[in-house]
Amino acid sequence: MSVVNIGLIGAGTVGSGVIKILNQNKDIIEKRTGVRLNLKKIADTDPDRKRPVRLPKKKLTTDARELIEDDSIDIIIELVGGTKIAKDFVVGAIENGKHVVTANKALLAHHGKSIFALASKMGVEVGFEASVGGGIPIIKSAQVGYAANNILSIHGIMNGTSNYILSKMTDEGSDFDDVLKLAQAEGYAEADPSFDVDGIDAAHKLSILIMLSFGIFLDFGKIHVEGIRGITPLDISFAGELGYKIKLLAIAKSRADGIEAGVYPALVRMGTQLADVSDAFNAIYVVGDAVGPTMLYGMGAGMMPTASAVVSDAIQIAKEIGSYKNSPGKANNSIPRFYDNTKSRPLIKMSDTTNKYYLRFQAEDRPGVLGKITGCLGRKGISIESVIQKGRHLGGGDVPVVIMTHEAREKDLLSAIKETNSFLSDKSKTTFIRIEEVQ
Ligand code: HSE
Repeated sequence: MSVVNIGLIGAGTVGSGVIKILNQNKDIIEKRTGVRLNLKKIADTDPDRKRPVRLPKKKLTTDARELIEDDSIDIIIELVGGTKIAKDFVVGAIENGKHVVTANKALLAHHGKSIFALASKMGVEVGFEASVGGGIPIIKSAQVGYAANNILSIHGIMNGTSNYILSKMTDEGSDFDDVLKLAQAEGYAEADPSFDVDGIDAAHKLSILIMLSFGIFLDFGKIHVEGIRGITPLDISFAGELGYKIKLLAIAKSRADGIEAGVYPALVRMGTQLADVSDAFNAIYVVGDAVGPTMLYGMGAGMMPTASAVVSDAIQIAKEIGSYKNSPGKANNSIPRFYDNTKSRPLIKMSDTTNKYYLRFQAEDRPGVLGKITGCLGRKGISIESVIQKGRHLGGGDVPVVIMTHEAREKDLLSAIKETNSFLSDKSKTTFIRIEEVQ
């Protein structure tokens, strides 16, 4: 049986999971691949930190270059994260003719184009199943399972931390700040939670799915990104009253004139599959022209789910290496990395999108105010579906006015809001959240 040697760079949580799976599922992996996956060396800057697995001392080094320069290593698994040193490791490994497996969505969102071009030039594979949706096999689904389709839309709950926070806020009526502290204490959110709660992590993942589904590399900085810091228990409660939940969605839609792409909180109708994705779970709802609506669901993070995706890439590549080691000269069975699109498809500006909206204004409770607000919307051609106004205070005062609109152009909505803000006493409270009608 041929042996495929693996070098693991980064033995943190996911790296420990990889070591564990390679040990505990050794036999089934050998049966499935026809090759032996041998973890030859492990590089980590902190060999003494506490881990859920024991690291074999003789395999351990603090110098990742040793792995990259080791001619006997076939596959480098990069689990360092970030876009600086990790890029050096990935590029160095590819330049040395090694296949790479990475979970690094930030790296691929920013440098995917050059990394894949280099890998093609060097004739090596880059596996990145763990970069989106943790253990959910969305990457191979996008590469193979949906290959017969024109993808029409993607709606992903792809950041577990944000989904956990929004779920807790919904269930307990708590403030964002309090739940964030709880999420940090429970180990869901990082000490610096900005990538998670500001939508950046989900946008990294979205750009990878856009590359796979539409064959284009977006300029990452151009994706519209909003996080969940501005979501209040009040909006969650009004949304609930209207039959919706608020979720942080990563969305891509195919239009005749281009691609809509954005990460933002949205109202999702209760009773739909996406609305029921709670806690730290992830789900990706994909609609293809042939297959129709589909949804993949599972753990988007964590030691074993993410390691499951990493090892699946190593298995895929090892099988391929095995086939040409056993039959030299035979064409390999490589799966396509992505479908290149010769026709460039522009990214549509958010202001040129059409959506339904949830609006909340803080307005003085006196005659004519609601009329003035609806007048502003009407003048911009925005049609109202329903209105809620509650909590009249004795002697006037401010009250929330909630309006649900029919489909409207975002440009028109923004200009109507500008007008309403000119007469509202507290324009800082004006809120708009898009409504996404998915099944
Ligand atoms: N921090 C991510 C999340 C997991 O909260 O979903 C890694 O992609």
